[in-house]
Amino acid sequence: MTMVIHLHRTPGDDTPSTYNLPSPEEAGIGASDWSGVSVSSALQYLQRAVDPALAFSLSCRRGLCNVCAMRIDGVVTTACTTPMRDGILIEPARSKLLLRDTVIELSLVRRARMDAVTPLAGERDA
Ligand code: FES
Repeated sequence: MTMVIHLHRTPGDDTPSTYNLPSPEEAGIGASDWSGVSVSSALQYLQRAVDPALAFSLSCRRGLCNVCAMRIDGVVTTACTTPMRDGILIEPARSKLLLRDTVIELSLVRRARMDAVTPLAGERDA
């Protein structure tokens, strides 16, 4: 069984790129079915076998760091913890912070978090 991914890669373009994935065996993925494979693993396959220019972020692969956050079928979630499904739509989490493909600028988010904890750090130091 093949699997279809629709991936928004161009800001302002409502037409997503469509990729037909081969079976996991043909793709060299250690699974019998794509539904047991994470979205991030499918993106890794696409980057490795189809388009080396595809950009996405990945770090812990356990749903802990949120670096791989993207909008999947309309819901912002982590790609490493979301299982693949046929016809899945993948978009950047925030189009205003988009750098490329599904990669967004996280420094603003991190700065906001640091600003939120800075008063506590100041109290601890005083
Ligand atoms: S890579 Fe860390 S949450 Fe997905």
